[in-house]
Amino acid sequence: MVTERVKELISEIEQITVDSKDQLEAFRLRYISKKGVVTELFEGLKNIPQEDRRAVGQELNTLKNLAQNRFQEFNAAIESASDTNPEMVIDLTLPVVPNQQGSLHPLTIVRRRIIEIFERMGFNVSYGPEIEKDWYNFSALNFADNHPAREMQDTFFISKSEGEVKDDMLLRTHTSNVQVRLMERQKPPIRSIMPGRVFRNEAISARAHCVFHQVEGLYVDRNVSFKDLKDTLYHFAKEMFGKESKIRLRPSYFPFTEPSAEIDVTCFICKGKGCNICKYTGWVEIAGSGMVDPNVLTNCGIDSEEYTGFAFGMGIERITMLRYGINDLRLFTENDVRFLRQFEGA
Ligand code: DAH
Repeated sequence: MVTERVKELISEIEQITVDSKDQLEAFRLRYISKKGVVTELFEGLKNIPQEDRRAVGQELNTLKNLAQNRFQEFNAAIESASDTNPEMVIDLTLPVVPNQQGSLHPLTIVRRRIIEIFERMGFNVSYGPEIEKDWYNFSALNFADNHPAREMQDTFFISKSEGEVKDDMLLRTHTSNVQVRLMERQKPPIRSIMPGRVFRNEAISARAHCVFHQVEGLYVDRNVSFKDLKDTLYHFAKEMFGKESKIRLRPSYFPFTEPSAEIDVTCFICKGKGCNICKYTGWVEIAGSGMVDPNVLTNCGIDSEEYTGFAFGMGIERITMLRYGINDLRLFTENDVRFLRQFEGA
């Protein structure tokens, strides 16, 4: 009985083929492990009559050795197969896979560049709140009570006041609120730039967004003149857009400056020759500016007989779009890595 079973197992083991790790493990479990058939047969030896036990024991040893030898062979074959498997070979001469580096957002790059240029001219950086009182966003800046910019279609109001006195809370529509806060708490000389987010109730499109960024500039001291404004912005334009850049001032109107001017810079795509970015004028608008209206100085507790000042405000999105030839505002907020990756190392 036992002898026959051993013969069967020997021929089974001789015929078996193993060519994967899983099959090798199945082989080990069946023939070699403590719970395998060979162990089981050894355990049955005690029931074999004394006189046969020796012979059967020898047969079982043969079976056991065969199983172990075959196991070693299969194991070696599988190991060497995986050594030469092209997928498993490590080629040390291959170039390394580069680490993804991440990049600064283009608006961050441009904001930092603007700050850097003005810091070198002696401006410091100030910040103010995004949720603001009417006074700082409008009234102190000389906006008349019925000025259209206060209207619902432009401003996001948080709470509207009922009475005569304007004490609405709103999301600031420009960074000019920080001018007022700064002048209120600091005596001239003041020379500061104020970057930040601003909010307007606009439908989102390629050219408009309800959230965007501005940098405000303010210089108040004795004898600050319009020439200082021109020189400062001319220097900025050369640093930001290249040495050949020129600026042009166009008369304009803002409630908080008098006189006021819009600042154009030579189109740096076509260098002033005319292209579709500058609508064939050779110039692109980059900022609003002017001499701080004496009413604003007075509203902030600064003596307008003794001090004068200039101010300007520019849109960071606009400058970034011009600088990198970006034609859709929505790209800035979509977080599409195909867009963002183009600014690696910029
Ligand atoms: N606050 C203006 C705007 O949002 C920009 C501006 C114009 C700011 C003239 C100024 C300035 O400080 O002097 O359109």
